[in-house]
Amino acid sequence: MKIITIIGSGLIGRSWAMVFASGGYSVKIHDNQPGQAAIALTEIKKQMMELQEVGMLRGQLSATQQLALLSSHDDLQQALQGAFFVQECVFENLKVKQNLFRNLERLVGEDVILSSSTSYLVPSAVFSSVQNRSRCLVSHPVNPPYYVKLVELVPHPDTLAATVDKTHALLTEVGQVPVRLRKEIDGFALNRVQAAIIVESWRLVQDGIISVQDIDLVMSEGLGMRYAFIGPMETIHLNAPEGLADYMRRYGDGVRRVASSFGPVPDFFAEDAKRIVSEMCQLIPNDERHLSARRERRDQLLMGLARLKKDH
Ligand SMILES: NC(=O)c1ccc[n+]([C@@H]2O[C@H](COP(=O)([O-])OP(=O)(O)OC[C@H]3O[C@@H](n4cnc5c(N)ncnc54)[C@H](O)[C@@H]3O)[C@@H](O)[C@H]2O)c1
Repeated sequence: MKIITIIGSGLIGRSWAMVFASGGYSVKIHDNQPGQAAIALTEIKKQMMELQEVGMLRGQLSATQQLALLSSHDDLQQALQGAFFVQECVFENLKVKQNLFRNLERLVGEDVILSSSTSYLVPSAVFSSVQNRSRCLVSHPVNPPYYVKLVELVPHPDTLAATVDKTHALLTEVGQVPVRLRKEIDGFALNRVQAAIIVESWRLVQDGIISVQDIDLVMSEGLGMRYAFIGPMETIHLNAPEGLADYMRRYGDGVRRVASSFGPVPDFFAEDAKRIVSEMCQLIPNDERHLSARRERRDQLLMGLARLKKDH
C-alpha cells in the first residue's frame, strides 16, 4: 500500500487527505494538537458521505472504501512510517514550517518527497533548514482543492527535476491539475495574477468609478465566464481573426496604455478604505451566519462547475 502523510489537519490538510484517498492512497493524518487529527477524520467522514449522496465523490472507490484508507496519528513518527510523500499543511508561519521540515528530514528516508502547501512563502525560505533539498518543493493548492484542482508546483533552486516530475505524476493521477513554475517567485503565478485583479478592483472602487457590487459582476458575469474554461492567453488568441499576434496588432496599444495608467498600490487601511469595507458588508454582512451561507453557496456553485468541467 502506498502511503502519504498529511501534516496539519485544518482546512487544507483535510482536503488533501480526501483528494489522495480518492486516488486509492493510504493517508496518515498528523496534527500536533492532540486529538485534532481524529476530529478532522470525523469531519472528512461527514463530507465524504454527503458527497457520495449527491454523486460528487471523487475517484472509483466508495466513501466507505476511501474512509478505510484514512487514519489519524497524534505521534509524528508513527504518521511518517512507510510514507513516500509528505504534504505539509501547517500554519502559514515561516518559523513553524522551517522547524517542522528540519525535524522531518531526520525522520524520513532520503527519497521521501517533502511538499509544502504554503500560499505565500517561497521554497528557499521554507526549506532553508533542510540539508538535502533536492526532494523538496511547494505544491500550492487552491481552496477548496476538492473542486478547484489547480496545484502550483514551485521548486527550490536545489530541487531535482525528478522530484517535480514525480509530484506532477502523482497529482495528475489523483485528479488534480498541476502546473510547473520553472523557478520561485513571490506569490507564485496564481497569487500574482490575483493580486493584480484585487488591486485594480480596489482602486476602481476607491476612485469612485464603480461600486463594489458592480466590480464583482465585471468578473462573475464577464471575465469569469470565459476563465473557467479558457485562460487569458487563449482568450486573446481567439479574440482576433488571426490569433494572438493579430490581437496585439489591433489592441496592443490599448492594453499598454491602460496598463500604464495603473496607479500605486492602494492603502487598504486608509480612511476611505472603510467606505469600501462598509459597502461590501452592506451586501453581505460579515457575521458568521451570512458568511457561512455565502461560503456554502460558493461551494455548491463550484461543485456544479466542477461537474460541468468534467463533462468537457
Ligand atoms: N486556506 C486556504 O485557502 C489555503 C489555500 C492554499 C494553501 N493554503 C496553505 O495551507 C496551509 C494550511 O492552511 P489551513 O488554511 O489549512 O490552516 P488551518 O489553520 O486551518 O490548519 C493548520 C493546522 O495545522 C496544525 N499545526 C500547526 N502547527 C503544526 C505542527 N508544527 N505540526 C503539526 N500540525 C500543526 C494546526 O493545529 C491546524 O490544525 C498554509 O500554509 C496555507 O497558506 C491555505
